[in-house]
Amino acid sequence: MLLQTSPTPTATRTHGPWAQRFHLMPQAGWLNDPNGLCQKDGTFHAYFQNSPDQVDGGLKHWGHATSRDLVRWEPDGVVLSPDTPYDAQGVYSGSAQVHDGRIWAFYTGNVKHASHEVAFDYVTSGRDANVLLATSDDGSHFGPKQLLLTPADYPAHLTCHVRDPKVFASPYAQGPAYLMLLGARAKGLDRAHDRGELLVFGSEDLTRWRLENQIVSPEPMGYMWECPDFLGLGTTSATSAENRCPQKEPLNLLSVSPQGLEGPEAGSNVYPSGYMAFAGSLVGAHELGRFHLWDGGFDFYAPQTFTAQDGRCILIGWMGMPDCPQHRNPTVSCGWQHCFTVPREVVTDGAQVFQRPARELYDYRSSLWLGDGSLQVSGVPCFDLEIARIVDSQCSVTVAGGLTVSYDQTSHEIVVSFEDRLAESLGGGRGERRLAAPALTSLRILGDASSVEVFCNGGAQVFSSRYYPRSYSVQASAPKAAIRCWQLDV
Ligand code: FRU
Repeated sequence: MLLQTSPTPTATRTHGPWAQRFHLMPQAGWLNDPNGLCQKDGTFHAYFQNSPDQVDGGLKHWGHATSRDLVRWEPDGVVLSPDTPYDAQGVYSGSAQVHDGRIWAFYTGNVKHASHEVAFDYVTSGRDANVLLATSDDGSHFGPKQLLLTPADYPAHLTCHVRDPKVFASPYAQGPAYLMLLGARAKGLDRAHDRGELLVFGSEDLTRWRLENQIVSPEPMGYMWECPDFLGLGTTSATSAENRCPQKEPLNLLSVSPQGLEGPEAGSNVYPSGYMAFAGSLVGAHELGRFHLWDGGFDFYAPQTFTAQDGRCILIGWMGMPDCPQHRNPTVSCGWQHCFTVPREVVTDGAQVFQRPARELYDYRSSLWLGDGSLQVSGVPCFDLEIARIVDSQCSVTVAGGLTVSYDQTSHEIVVSFEDRLAESLGGGRGERRLAAPALTSLRILGDASSVEVFCNGGAQVFSSRYYPRSYSVQASAPKAAIRCWQLDV
């Protein structure tokens, strides 16, 4: 079925003191999940969930931005709007494939029914989640929308929550050429026992899809799995050679953002995002490993990956957290809210998974400050701090006078902590986050006008957080370690 669509321009506004320089942020309004990440003819395309007129979120569109180097992003306004009966209450999250010289965007069309007679709960009734496709040759202008899947195509044991298609070329020699993962919420005996799972659809031509498999964890892991993804790491030379990370074995990962996950592996945020080692086949028998958080910071959710033209696996997350009432975000008064993380290369040594800022950022390093054991830099909002060869995990860095990164020798945890926890303070009301690590041997911190991303031990542990400084400074202390801090000129 074909449906007509048209791009809607959005106005540019003043973004105020905390406007980001090298992190993708909305031109206007609210941003959440990364969508449709891809690279075509050298240009990177990033789409994102955007409510251009509602700074606190509302009706979702796809915003668009492009980049030649993953650092400088050119905004392009809204390119997909909810303008058909199949996506009337939101152009929800999805992914893209570059195929036959065009960008094919797959997304969830959110439909909410209204009735005077029936009280819908919008979990088991009153909602449709359709899968739609729109294609574009320039990434900005999309042709007619095509309806690919409706609730009639999903198994009966699911609630109405089925969404976020991630489409990719099948890694298997046998079976369908393309696979689509959909996150789903299965009905429990009662609402408290609903359970997250995945659907795997297969297709030969990207338009006709058939259910191939369902993936569940051995024990329930939350009530809904959002934004699924599949990463085949270690199958290309670009990732391992350039990152000095000897690849022993390929490692496949399944990434999900489970709502309702409890227990230590869920971390301290209201919603976690993480990955599990995946052995076996998406379309056959398989086994899932333990759930690991992608990121232990205050602001990280719904990441998506794509394969760059040089073979690198690049991950971008939403640097935000839904349903977090204690976070007071002062950018709201400037008409925008939330941004993406820096694009990260995901690599593995066969055992551990590492995230490292895209190497293109090195080209923006300018003034350099050097310290032997300690260093202080003031007045630089965009910085790249590196501390190598930390001795006995002795290291402490304070950013903007109130956000400290340190290692707790007693609990063996890396700690990221805001000193002042008042709503109007540096952290907008947030406190402390921790991740277990046997030691702290190296640290890299990227600062932008209103974010700090902390990469520990070569990217084995990462923390992403927004902050709202009134003045900028970095104070680092790591006895006998080499400390370098570059200004980033973006
Ligand atoms: C994740 C999510 C997705 C959904 C989108 C709507 O943050 O809830 O599951 O498609 O956001 O904006």
